[in-house]
Amino acid sequence: MGVDTARQIRNLALIGFMGTGKSSVGRLVADHLHFTFLDTDDVIEARAKISIAEIFRQQGEPAFREWEGRIVEELTRRNRTVISTGGGLPAHEPNLTSLKSHSLVICLWASPDKIWQRVRGQSHRPLLQESDPLAKIRELLAAREPSYRQADVLINTEFRSLREVAQQVLHQYHMALAAHG
Ligand code: S3P
Repeated sequence: MGVDTARQIRNLALIGFMGTGKSSVGRLVADHLHFTFLDTDDVIEARAKISIAEIFRQQGEPAFREWEGRIVEELTRRNRTVISTGGGLPAHEPNLTSLKSHSLVICLWASPDKIWQRVRGQSHRPLLQESDPLAKIRELLAAREPSYRQADVLINTEFRSLREVAQQVLHQYHMALAAHG
């Protein structure tokens, strides 16, 4: 992986599939660094004044992806922010390129079974409202894996607590700063 020397690292972006702990870990890391925490899904809900599920229902997934693109564009102006992204956001290549222009991009990883264990009790994710959600997780994760692998750092979350994952993220962030000033 390795971060190119011309990169600006003003922020830290967490990417990865639903249920990998991006928001919880992002909050812990932001607290520790005294950075602002921002969740792209929360920003979209606040702007649209409806839930993500409602956006999918009323306007469809393409409209939601347009929202994501607009928010990503705005993020280029941020400093000292930990950004937690929606699971599908980096699958659109320009979004990932944009994040990399200002952030160290860290992907939180977990296997489909682990993800299913973590999200099965939750009902707010429109993409998992399927007769076979585990199959859907496998399909989406396989399709997105090449995008997730473009992250600067990949962290396996399966056998780590949220706190341990946050420590790993902080460690990687400090190493990247030390290497790039
Ligand atoms: C999505 C993930 C969700 C949310 C939306 C679509 C996806 O975010 O953006 O439901 O395409 O994987 P989380 O990854 O925070 O659950």
